[in-house]
Amino acid sequence: MAPTGLFISFEGIDGAGKSSHIEGLADAFRAQSRSVVCTREPGGTPLAEKLRELLLHDAMDALTESLLVFAARRDHLCQVIVPALARGDVVLCDRFTDATFAYQGAGRGFDLQALSILERMAQTGIGLEANLMHEPQLTLWFDLAPDVAAQRLAGARVPDRFEAQPAEFFRRVAQGYADRAAAAPQRFARIDAAQERVAVWQQIMDVFVQRGWLAVQGTAL
Ligand code: TYD
Repeated sequence: MAPTGLFISFEGIDGAGKSSHIEGLADAFRAQSRSVVCTREPGGTPLAEKLRELLLHDAMDALTESLLVFAARRDHLCQVIVPALARGDVVLCDRFTDATFAYQGAGRGFDLQALSILERMAQTGIGLEANLMHEPQLTLWFDLAPDVAAQRLAGARVPDRFEAQPAEFFRRVAQGYADRAAAAPQRFARIDAAQERVAVWQQIMDVFVQRGWLAVQGTAL
């Protein structure tokens, strides 16, 4: 029997350190003979990567930003995520819809109900189960105080439109993530991203071991 697909997203404010752990998790899953797709949002398809360039660098209002984010997400779901899950792959996605609620919703102040409507439109009607709203089974939320994240990012590279936002924006985004996590506690696993890298990795492993998705310390089951 083909394994059941797993859809896992990684979230947190810029500088929380999520991206560096995705490859490690991919290796851990591959070590137990799972096919893994590592992808990201906005992006993950040629069209969505073009939209990412616009989103990160071109000025636009919050509705335009939200529409482009969801347009990119739908293409990503249609072309990559839903087919991968149908094959039984593990999909590790660097950000997904929680980022839209945190950045466009809490950060920019865009209407959360409007985002929920767009979410349902963009994430439904793909693949065999037409009524299913595709969303991650698990979201690893890298929780880090905004001032610590800002220190980590300082001088690292030329900031994009989001990274260039003031501290107050990231405080709202962080609160947006906390609200999302409180609303879906079964889906969210909070990772204390202030800890040392090894300790963060250990927390991640604990989550996967508890769910029975990995054995110990990333060893294959
Ligand atoms: P990020 O994962 O930070 O990419 P990188 O590590 O390469 O900089 O994502 C890019 C930015 O996109 C990030 O600042 C958050 C923003 N973003 C949104 O505003 N809304 C969304 O729905 C998504 C997925 C990302």
